[in-house]
Amino acid sequence: MSNSSGLNSSCEEFIADDVTSNRSNNTRRMLIKEYRKIGHGAFGTVVQAYLTQDKEQWYGPFAIKRVPAQTEYKSRELQILRITNHPNIVKLEYFFTHTSPLDRKVYQHLAMECLPGTLQMEISRYSNNNLQLPIKHVKLYSYQIARGMLYLHALGICHRDIKPSNILVDPSSGVLKICDFGSAKKLEHNQPSISYICSRFYRAPELIIGSTQYTTQIDIWGLGCVIGEMLIGKAVFQGQEPLLQLREIAKLLGPPDKKFIFFSNPAYDGPLFSKPLFSGSPQSRFEKHFGHAGPDGIDLLMKVLVYEPQSRLSPRRILAHQFFDDLRKEEYFFPRGETQPIRLPHLFDFSEFESQVLGEFVTKIKPETEEDS
Ligand SMILES: Nc1ncnc2c1ncn2[C@@H]1O[C@H](COP(=O)(O)OP(=O)(O)O)[C@@H](O)[C@H]1O
Ligand SMILES: [Mg+2]
Repeated sequence: MSNSSGLNSSCEEFIADDVTSNRSNNTRRMLIKEYRKIGHGAFGTVVQAYLTQDKEQWYGPFAIKRVPAQTEYKSRELQILRITNHPNIVKLEYFFTHTSPLDRKVYQHLAMECLPGTLQMEISRYSNNNLQLPIKHVKLYSYQIARGMLYLHALGICHRDIKPSNILVDPSSGVLKICDFGSAKKLEHNQPSISYICSRFYRAPELIIGSTQYTTQIDIWGLGCVIGEMLIGKAVFQGQEPLLQLREIAKLLGPPDKKFIFFSNPAYDGPLFSKPLFSGSPQSRFEKHFGHAGPDGIDLLMKVLVYEPQSRLSPRRILAHQFFDDLRKEEYFFPRGETQPIRLPHLFDFSEFESQVLGEFVTKIKPETEEDS
């Protein structure tokens, strides 16, 4: 047992009276055994745990995310996790509230399926060894994020905090799931939303400028940043402070258009970075940065990392992009550290809902000899 964590360094057991199963909706009393802290963020902790009713049959392991039950922030996380059901979105299994005996405060607990790691860990594992993530892995992971986004955005849900530590992966199977819906929100037309969301390096330019009328396309920007990060092993745009983040973007894309700034936020009075910061075309800079992604990878990135949100590719166009043709043609890959190839996880087993959303794109996305079940 690891001893590096504070509260949960030893096995903790407690009984919760109202544990609700997200599948059956039944609520019952259960014993929870927490045995390993696996993450912590701004508001809470995540521990690995098992649940039981009778100490005979144990369920798990789950990742239990614990956050204060009442904060001034309206957490829509539980609400959203309760309605989502998709292979690339982390699955909620149980939820309950419990009063901590230590501080007498009420905490909300979300017991989710547990994956062995995050994309953040996967990226650093390679970059710390001066290695590059194999392009096949970049494609596999990028595709699954886009597929998760297709689903979320079709429901109107914007994740608002896309970054590698909020993306779970199982490197041995290649399966990926988007997690951390602590900032997520269902965006309604013409209703403003706060612009101070999303972690700095992954913030879309319209958020930096202070737009409150943004769309789910801010997640697509985040996806572009994550794809770039998988390719180069570090965050693509590393602004040292919030407004300098725009400068980092301008270094690669060139100066933002005045119209874009005005439409994002007419009251913006920050720096414009309207002078070119580097010579050469954006194309040549993308090639210099992301050369080993090949022409298809560069083409995709240049269509995703675009100032104007409405010009960024939509999730279904991303899924249909030729960068992912390899996944359609060759259904095997080598998991990290393995010398034997295995089958790719299911990538094209679209539900009726997804097929509806994809429309005519289904035929472009699915491999020609489709036998995925
Ligand atoms: N279902 C899960 N399986 C495995 N690890 C998880 C899971 N959910 C969260 N984690 C780990 O806990 C960390 C924090 O969880 P997250 O939901 O991102 O909370 P926060 O809002 O604190 O960032 C993640 O970056 C990840 O390392
Ligand atoms: Mg997080």
